[in-house]
Amino acid sequence: MSNPKTPSLLRVGIVVTLAGVISLSLVLLWYSPSNRCPPPAYKPDQYIQISSVESNNSLTETVEEKPILLLWVWPQDYRFDFSDCKKFYNIDNCQLTDDRSLYNNADNVIVYHRDIRWDLSNLPPSPRPGFQRWIWLHLESPTNTIKIPGLENLFNLTLSYRQDADIPVRLRLTTTKKPNEDFVIPKKDKLVCWIVSNNAASTGVGTRNGFYQELSKHIQVTLFGKAYARFLDYKDYYPTIASCKFYLAFENSVHKDYITEKINGPLVAGSVPVVLGPPRRNYENFVPGDSFIHVNDFPDAKSLADYLHQLDKDEDAYRKYFNWRKHLTPAPHLILQTQEFILAICTACDHVGRHKEYKEAHDIYDWYFS
Ligand SMILES: *[C@@H]1O[C@H](CO)[C@@H](O)[C@H](O)[C@H]1NC(C)=O
Ligand SMILES: *[C@@H]1O[C@H](CO)[C@@H](O)[C@H](O)[C@H]1NC(C)=O
Repeated sequence: MSNPKTPSLLRVGIVVTLAGVISLSLVLLWYSPSNRCPPPAYKPDQYIQISSVESNNSLTETVEEKPILLLWVWPQDYRFDFSDCKKFYNIDNCQLTDDRSLYNNADNVIVYHRDIRWDLSNLPPSPRPGFQRWIWLHLESPTNTIKIPGLENLFNLTLSYRQDADIPVRLRLTTTKKPNEDFVIPKKDKLVCWIVSNNAASTGVGTRNGFYQELSKHIQVTLFGKAYARFLDYKDYYPTIASCKFYLAFENSVHKDYITEKINGPLVAGSVPVVLGPPRRNYENFVPGDSFIHVNDFPDAKSLADYLHQLDKDEDAYRKYFNWRKHLTPAPHLILQTQEFILAICTACDHVGRHKEYKEAHDIYDWYFS
């Protein structure tokens, strides 16, 4: 049977179907993700949920929420990869970021003292969220600290080499129960060594330079470092110290707890540190009393030189300075200049991951300079 209307009806049907298919595909195209879409804005909460879904399909699983730690400025513009905290110190319990757009969500903000402008114009904005803690990061000794007015009562936590800081920064020796028997004192071809990078008088180096002048009259000291135009490549740092029987670990200024990586180098490398800094008792809070020689143990530089000469000839007496290694292990510190703040920032990360308590840090200068 032929119906004259059939062909046109068919045509209408085809057109309608086609139109439907086209619009449907357009709609589908519209909603399908494409490369042209910008990546979704980063939201920490979302991030945490996704990772929980990935690790376990059940959303009821309790998720440890890592606090956000915002680094407001990169100290001295020394940048590093935040994953270094995990890599070097196995620290992974906060969410480190330098993205200021997360400010309102940041649980903690690190502010580096030396980079704060005199007019305070580059501080994070106020008022801060009620849950947010500001962390004062400063690693220089009081001698090398400029009091920027207006910071006295702004912070919640102090991050410093001082042991009584809210977050003390220090690589500590670790104990090992199983005795370590395989330590061998490295081969020595130098008696006393000293690496000096900054000898500017303004850094308070008068004491150590005076002592060095006197000491070098009585014993040969091999000098390295920028200050003496004998620059040491970073890769030579530990091997060079290892090749010296004694190493001068002289701090630039003398303050409680101001005991820097200068003593860690020889302890790690297998040399005996001769320290100048706070009293022996203070050192013994961090390293064993029989692992170093303190300049204050001697009435003057000549007596110290005599003692070092004597140890040089007495292998057994020298060896006793390494007895501590049997049950203690030192950790090498990072030596590149650009790595100077990694330990401090990672230590802060570890701290805020474990401590959420309320805290106000008042009169920070009274504390710091006392
Ligand atoms: C996921 O979570 C459920 C419920 O808490 C638990 O029973 C299951 O063992 C978990 N599976 C994995 C792979 O962790
Ligand atoms: C942080 O310290 C400031 C200044 O003392 C204080 O006003 C604020 O309440 C403190 N906040 C927290 C969460 O500790």
